[in-house]
Amino acid sequence: MTQLRWLVTGCSSGLGKAFVRTILARGDKVVATARGDISRLSSLKEAGAETVSLDVTAPLSEIKVVAASILESGPIDVLVNNAGYIEAGMSEEVSYDQYMAQFETNFFGVIRTTQAILPHFREKKSGFVVFIGSSGGIAGEPGAGPYCATKFALKGWYDCFKKETAHLGIKSMLFELGFFRTKIDDPNNYKFRSESIDEYKEINKLVKQFLQSMDGNQPGDPQKGVEVMIDFVREEGVAKGRVLPERLPLGSDCLSTLRKRAVEDLNTCNEWEDVIRGTDYK
Ligand SMILES: NC(=O)c1ccc[n+]([C@@H]2O[C@H](COP(=O)([O-])OP(=O)(O)OC[C@H]3O[C@@H](n4cnc5c(N)ncnc54)[C@H](OP(=O)(O)O)[C@@H]3O)[C@@H](O)[C@H]2O)c1
Repeated sequence: MTQLRWLVTGCSSGLGKAFVRTILARGDKVVATARGDISRLSSLKEAGAETVSLDVTAPLSEIKVVAASILESGPIDVLVNNAGYIEAGMSEEVSYDQYMAQFETNFFGVIRTTQAILPHFREKKSGFVVFIGSSGGIAGEPGAGPYCATKFALKGWYDCFKKETAHLGIKSMLFELGFFRTKIDDPNNYKFRSESIDEYKEINKLVKQFLQSMDGNQPGDPQKGVEVMIDFVREEGVAKGRVLPERLPLGSDCLSTLRKRAVEDLNTCNEWEDVIRGTDYK
């Protein structure tokens, strides 16, 4: 395969950083982005990445300006929509502003960045868009309402996007990740900022304990995860010669979540078929 030039959001840590290092190691070029001061990306620059400041919550007009300046120095072949964070809390307690902040980054940030690059992909009739979903977009868990809502929304949007853009030569893929060992579950990183209702005190405590127990013990290895995702884009390694699925779960925990959901959904279809069909006009 010819050398590709990637654009990755959220490269200051975790999967984004692993993406950049692995893309370079596999012989491709990459524009690594992070919000704010890009001196945080100096180690990636030294490794060979171009570094650019990009906050995915910026207005579309601003992201388009960033995209245009990146494209001045050459075409982009792959966009990885990676930036994201967890806004946690009980669904009733989380404020409208907190929900909006979570959507601004995890959902609208993805849409804006994709919209900024799409004209370029349409023009060259090729391009690959990677979306980072979550097991939280397969099944919800207590305390994860805002985050899961964004990842479910992302999946719905992606399903439409994929069908709308395939005929333009644009490929896309949603990876649904289980728990991977990054700083995402670090208490200094996720947001848990609404606790006002007594009845949720106990469950809030349990959710925090769960996140704490996960931090540093997540089963997923970010390096192995990004290797698979890059294989899919480059159609090599585990993806070589195979028909690719529309979405791929990554991590054994995500596999269990998806299996359980699939079995439950199939059972509902089978056991309730008469009721479900019964609402049609005769
Ligand atoms: N790790 C997991 O278990 C897991 C599971 C499922 C899905 N994911 C998804 O994987 C993606 C990467 O997360 P991660 O696990 O690598 O966590 P991470 O280490 O916390 O990295 C998240 C990255 O997103 C960046 N970011 C946050 N808001 C941003 C914004 N407005 N503009 C630009 N960048 C922004 C962060 O930058 P700052 O340093 O500036 O905050 C950071 O670089 C996220 O979409 C996450 O939802 C992760």
